[in-house]
This record gives sequence, C-alpha cells and structure tokens, in this order.
Amino acid sequence: MVELTPSFMLEYESLDRDHQHLANIVNRIVQAIDDGEAEKCEDLVIDLVQSTKSHFANEEALLIKVGYPNLKKHQDHHKSLNTKMEHLLEFAKMAGENQMAGDSLRKELVFFLMDDVITTDMEFKSFIEEKAKPEKA
Ligand SMILES: [Fe+2]
Ligand SMILES: [Fe+2]
Repeated sequence: MVELTPSFMLEYESLDRDHQHLANIVNRIVQAIDDGEAEKCEDLVIDLVQSTKSHFANEEALLIKVGYPNLKKHQDHHKSLNTKMEHLLEFAKMAGENQMAGDSLRKELVFFLMDDVITTDMEFKSFIEEKAKPEKA
C-alpha cells in the first residue's frame, strides 16, 4: 500500500488532492491483486490512466498560470509517461490469468505513482509556494 507522507506533499491543495486520489486507486489495485481478484485490475487501471491524464492537464494549467519557467520540461516528462501507462494497461489485461503479470503490475504501479508522478513534482514545489499562495481550493 502506498501512503502520501508529508515529504510527498506539495502543500497545494488541489494537486495534493489529485495525488491522493491516484494513490487511492493504486491501493485498490494492489488490494485486488493481493485478494486474488486481479481480474478487477483492468477497469481500475483504465480509471488510473484517465485520472492521471486529467491530473497532468490540471497541473500543467496551474504551471502555465503561475508562469513556471521549466514548464516545457515538466510537460515533456508527463508526455514521456504515456508509453509507461500503455504498459500498465497491458499488464492489467493479463493480470487476471497470469500471476506474474499481476506481480509486475503491482511493482510498476507503485514506482509509477511515487517516482514518476509525485516525486518529480517536488521540483516546482517551492516555485508554486511563492507564486500561487494563498489558494482558495
Ligand atoms: Fe502531479
Ligand atoms: Fe507532474
């Protein structure tokens, strides 16, 4: 199970809320695999991918609004995760019949969320702290 401890928080409510939502979906997928209900993974991973893409759009809109100087780099990073999300969907399709696919999915999902999605956002944490506060969420 993943938990968003304080070091993974941006202290910016709408983005932290999105990240928590993604973490909740990841935890439901991990739970399904652990409970031997891996056939539920496909729908959940589809939900995760859609939620991740709409989160990226929200986040990029905010970064544009506050004039974040490394916007292009972060947008490119988000784009580079499309292939990874395709792989997650492939694993999820197989997870119902194939335990190795389920195990790989569980491991990849946690790295995807914590390393690729959330940790890379910490690069702009101090920038939005200065530029975007106070936020009425
Ligand atoms: Fe994010
Ligand atoms: Fe991001």
